[in-house]
Amino acid sequence: TTVEWEAESYDMGGHDTYMHKEIVEQVDAVDRVLRGRIDDRFATVRLGGLNLDAREARSMRRVKILGCGSAYHAGQIGAQMIEELARIPADAEPASEFRYRNPVVDPDTLYIAVSQSGETYDTLAAVQELKRKGARVLGVVNVVGSAIARETDGGVYVHAGPEVCVVSTKCFTNTAVAFALLALHLGRIRDLSVADGKRIIEGLRKLPGQIAEIMELEDHIATLAKEFADAKSMMFVGRVRGYPVAREASLKLKEISYIHAEAYPASELKHGPLALIEPATPTVAIVPRDDLLEKNRATLEEIKARSGRILAVAHEPQEKADDTIVVPRNEPELDPVLMGIPLQLLAYHTALALGRDIDKPRNLAKSVTVE
Ligand code: AGP
Repeated sequence: TTVEWEAESYDMGGHDTYMHKEIVEQVDAVDRVLRGRIDDRFATVRLGGLNLDAREARSMRRVKILGCGSAYHAGQIGAQMIEELARIPADAEPASEFRYRNPVVDPDTLYIAVSQSGETYDTLAAVQELKRKGARVLGVVNVVGSAIARETDGGVYVHAGPEVCVVSTKCFTNTAVAFALLALHLGRIRDLSVADGKRIIEGLRKLPGQIAEIMELEDHIATLAKEFADAKSMMFVGRVRGYPVAREASLKLKEISYIHAEAYPASELKHGPLALIEPATPTVAIVPRDDLLEKNRATLEEIKARSGRILAVAHEPQEKADDTIVVPRNEPELDPVLMGIPLQLLAYHTALALGRDIDKPRNLAKSVTVE
């Protein structure tokens, strides 16, 4: 019966917190969002509930993604994937900001609302406003049949399963993967080649195994976290694909450890925040081995020159960093999916070292259904 199913899914399953359970569950959760959707014959994916035909997919001129908190950060990753793979100009914006600025609602723009709960008031209100003005709105939502799922014209379910901890982990990751599917689908209707489609599919298939490899790093990450527990403030930096990862990691750390954290595009450091860098303010830098590797290495040098402690998340040990969390390599477009995961563990173990109430951080609610 339904009651039994719920009791089972909400069980902590031997973990001390729901957050830990949900981090570890990502291996299966990502497998679930992919299941039954890959179409090898056409090097694309099938998204049953999307409700967007090929002609509409070809004719849209912009994509605007709306959400709050972690959903907004996952939307930023999604916007980059859509722009890169489908070559449609795309960006993400906090749903409340969008709603309050009386935006121009353009008939050639596809709007996408992102939400774990599907009940977040600001996101729902943005959807309702867009619908009232005749816009096409899709949802990337976890909870099936939720308000946002019902009010949108179609969309992609994230299939992360129930997320109990107030802070989002597996749903964030699955949302990023759901956006990769959507970007691939739109790309293959537009100009993405078969070869690139196959390349992304191969990358998607590798994700669950690579997430399992990241879980093996937990002891190393827990040791690092103990050192960060003393920090008063932390800086997170990344460039382009690494920037939303830095923002999400910074949000995760502040939500559960209460350590002040800021996230900046690495290039913005020299325009101000560099003044904060000193030994007591450690930096976490996202350093994938992509075409921005040298730029990111230069940032590490700038920070080192100010005696700042550096933890890099990279594909190989970084000489200028004090420590590196080495994550497995995938296709560059999918780097944000993997690089965020060790930083969920870092936030978790930092909060644990500080004795925080991880599943129920102060002042926060799982879903914000008020304005
Ligand atoms: C994430 O850790 C949050 N606690 C929060 O930012 C959350 O992502 C936001 O409130 C949006 O919720 P939703 O995905 O249910 O709409």
